[in-house]
Amino acid sequence: MARKHALEAIEYDRRGMYDYAIEKYRRAIDVLSKLIALDPRSPFAAIYTARMREYKKRLGELEGEMVKIDVSDSKVDASLEEVILKERPRVHWEDIADLEEAKIAIREAIVYPVKRPDLFPLGWPRGILLFGPPGCGKTLLAAAVATEIDAVFFRVDAASIMSKWLGEAEKNVARLFRKGREEAKKGKPAIIFIDEVDALFGTHVSEVGGEVRVRNQFLTEMDGLQDKNERIHLYVIGATNKPWRLDNAFIRRFQKRIYIPLPDFEARVDIFRIYTRNLNIDPDVSLEELARLTEGYAASDIRDICQAAQNKVVREYFELSGSSMGKPRPIKMEDFIDIIKKRRPSVNPRMLEYYERWAEEFKAL
Ligand SMILES: Nc1ncnc2c1ncn2[C@@H]1O[C@H](COP(=O)(O)OP(=O)(O)OP(=O)(O)O)[C@@H](O)[C@H]1O
Ligand SMILES: [Mg+2]
Repeated sequence: MARKHALEAIEYDRRGMYDYAIEKYRRAIDVLSKLIALDPRSPFAAIYTARMREYKKRLGELEGEMVKIDVSDSKVDASLEEVILKERPRVHWEDIADLEEAKIAIREAIVYPVKRPDLFPLGWPRGILLFGPPGCGKTLLAAAVATEIDAVFFRVDAASIMSKWLGEAEKNVARLFRKGREEAKKGKPAIIFIDEVDALFGTHVSEVGGEVRVRNQFLTEMDGLQDKNERIHLYVIGATNKPWRLDNAFIRRFQKRIYIPLPDFEARVDIFRIYTRNLNIDPDVSLEELARLTEGYAASDIRDICQAAQNKVVREYFELSGSSMGKPRPIKMEDFIDIIKKRRPSVNPRMLEYYERWAEEFKAL
């Protein structure tokens, strides 16, 4: 019976029907406490107690301020620090092949309003969504934004926001935005980059009603940014390779939605150039030919191919000469061809179709 009440409570909680949820949590707690009293030494008692504590905590939250979240204490920043990724990769625009559209869109979206807010009487977009197949530069692009745009940059992984603790996930979201606003008020623009943003809809979140509450918190925060009276420069860039997991309300908050597709021929030539830059390659290697052979491959596949080619000559060198002198031979065209033959593209054509279709429907520059 406790289980039944609890399941119902969770379901109501998830749907945002908090009055009902409160009632059901109370009943579940009531039944559990009776069970524990009946046989306190039973091996189940500990489990019941743990469950009960969880429900009580959630009940307390619901009974208290249901949506208002207190993020004003100082412990907050400590736990926020945990979700912000620290390392600052120094990636420059030139390290990224192609994606011109995205580079320009991001630059314009952030740089122009900062320079001349007076030219944007209707406000300006605060949300930018990067979507597309894996390994094509979404995360890389965000790293370049951090390097190239003079802004305070917060990089978080959505999965790390989704704390396993009750109620913490939406607090993390609130904290993040509060921190972002604070920074943005100091003068420089602030950018919050949320990687794998679809995880905010997390199916792996075990907590009760977690996904919906996190999502709602996020939507509220995004709306706050749009407030025309609050003309601060806080931007949110989200990235995802599962855009179809996002719902319409969520999508709408990202006024710019940029497709990061598989690299085309020109881009592949460029990617091969970037990743063979520091390798010793034979003059017979044609980057154009390599690009022709790798249609359908992601940028990260091409990087892996170059890495594998280098590994191949290094391995040979160690085996033949024992590494004490000289250096590996140059990488030849046939080394590359060999490796490409053994490697399928990591994105299959059917998946690609999904991306194209989603882009067709939701792309917005
Ligand atoms: N446009 C590009 N130019 C050069 N290298 C690239 C490009 N795109 C991706 N790469 C290489 O592939 C790696 C993986 O790319 P990245 O992490 O940006 O992919 P992603 O789009 O974020 O994928 P996912 O959806 O899986 O997170 C990069 O670290 C980089 O080495
Ligand atoms: Mg990524």
